[in-house]
Amino acid sequence: MSDISNEYQGKATMEKITSLAKRRGFVFQSSEIYGGQNGAWDYGPLGIELKNRIARFWWKEMTQLHDEIVGLDAAILMHPRVWEASGHVENFTDPLVDCKKCKARFRADHIPPENLAQKKCPECGGELTDTRKFNMMFQTHIGAVEEKANIVYLRPETAQGIYVNYKNIIQSNRMKIPFGIAQIGKAFRNEIVTKNFIFRTCEFEQMEMQYFVKPGTDVEWFEEWRKRRWAYYEKLGIRMDHLRWHRHGKDELAHYARDAYDIEYLFPMGWQELEGVHNRSNYDLTRHSQFSGKDMQYIDQETNERYIPFIIETSAGLTRNLLMVLCDAYDEEKVADKGNEDDWRTVMRFHPQLAPITVAVLPLMKKDGLAEMAQDIRQELKEDFTTDYDQAGAIGRRYRRQDEAGTPFCVTVDYESKENNTVTLRFRDSMQQIRVNRAELAERLHREIKEFKPIA
Ligand code: GAP
Repeated sequence: MSDISNEYQGKATMEKITSLAKRRGFVFQSSEIYGGQNGAWDYGPLGIELKNRIARFWWKEMTQLHDEIVGLDAAILMHPRVWEASGHVENFTDPLVDCKKCKARFRADHIPPENLAQKKCPECGGELTDTRKFNMMFQTHIGAVEEKANIVYLRPETAQGIYVNYKNIIQSNRMKIPFGIAQIGKAFRNEIVTKNFIFRTCEFEQMEMQYFVKPGTDVEWFEEWRKRRWAYYEKLGIRMDHLRWHRHGKDELAHYARDAYDIEYLFPMGWQELEGVHNRSNYDLTRHSQFSGKDMQYIDQETNERYIPFIIETSAGLTRNLLMVLCDAYDEEKVADKGNEDDWRTVMRFHPQLAPITVAVLPLMKKDGLAEMAQDIRQELKEDFTTDYDQAGAIGRRYRRQDEAGTPFCVTVDYESKENNTVTLRFRDSMQQIRVNRAELAERLHREIKEFKPIA
C-alpha cells in the first residue's frame, strides 16, 4: 500500500471513525457482551438510517431512473448446484497459511514474499504451514441431518440470484435486451482476515445490477456503465479526488471476468476497492444452461435471433459504501479560541439526503411553554423528515451533539417564537442562523435539501 500521509486530505482515522460510530449509535460490534463476533457488526439507530438512505439512493438511481431496469429480492439460500455452475465451489478460494507457533492465520498473498519463501511468520518468526486453498463460502445444512446431500451455502454474492431468475423476469415483465436487474441484499464470505472496522467482514451487503446485452455490444455497454457509476458518486456528493479507477490485470481477474475495473476510494488506511464494474461475458448464463439443462438463450421477437446475452455487472458494497460515507463526512473544525475542548467541534458533513436525522428541534428552555411548542413543531415535521428532539443541557452543547450526528438543520424555539411564531433555523456546516416563520418551515427545509451545496 502506498504512503498515504501526503495524499489523504481528510481528518478521519479509522480509530476516530470506529469510536464515533459506537459513541453515536452508528455501528456496534456484534455480540459485544460476549467479547464480540469477528467479521460481524450491528447497525444502531443512526447506522440503519444511514444504510437505508444509501440503499434508497442507489435503488432510485439504478431502477426508478431507468425504464429498462427492474428490481429483485432473491433468497440467500440457493440450490447448491448454482455454486457449482457459477464456479464458486471450485474457484472461490483464498491462499491461506498458518503459523505453527503463534497460530496466526494469513492470506499468503498479503504477507511479504520473502516470509512466504522462507516460511517465516511475519509476526513471531515461527514456522509457516504450506499454502493451501481455502474456500470462502459458508456451508450449512438444510433439514435435520447433517450430511453431504443436504449442504447449502450462504450466498457469497447476490449476482447468482439474478442470473437464475433472468428467464422468469423476461417472461413476467416482457423485458427486451438491453435490460437490467438490480438487487440489494446480504452476502457472506469466510474472510481470513477481517480488519479495518466494517471494510472487510464475513457478513455484508451488496448493491448489484446485472445488465444483459447483445454479444458484440458488451464493450460499449461496459464503458457506458463505467461512466454512469462514476457520475453516481459525484451525485452522491463524494469528494471526487478521493476516487480513482483501477483496472484488473490478467492475474487479478475473477474466473468469470473478461474485463474489470474497480472504483477505489481513498480510505484513511489507503486506496481500497469500493465497487467493481465487470464484463462477465456469457460465462454465467452459459454455465447455468449447462448445469441446469435449461435453455438460457434470449429470443429477439423482432428478428428471431437467439443468443446467450453478455452481462455487464456493477457490484458495490453497501456496508463498504457506508464506511466511505462516514470517512468522507468526518471533519474537525476550530470554532472558538477559549483554550479549552469546546474550541473544537467534530462534524459529520453528510449530504442532507443521507443524514440519519434531517432536523432536530430544540427548545431554548424547558420552561414557559417552550418545550411544548418545540414538541408540537417536531410533530408537524415528522411526516416529511426524520426528526430528533433534545432539551438537555446548554444550547451550544446540544448543537455540538447534532453536529457529531451529522444533522444538517436545527430548529430552536425561543421566547420570540412564542410572540410571533418564528423559529431559529441553524445550518450545520456554516453554523449560520436565520429566522423562519413556523408555517414556512417544512417548505424551507425541502428547498434547502434540494439546493444543498457542500462547503468548499
Ligand atoms: N458479484 C461480483 C462480486 O461480488 P466482488 O468484487 O467480489 O464482486 C463486490 O465484490 C463488492 O462487494 C466489493 O467491491 C466490495 O464493495 C463488496 N465486498 C466484497 N467482499 C466484501 C467483504 N468481505 N466485506 C465487505 N464488503 C465486501
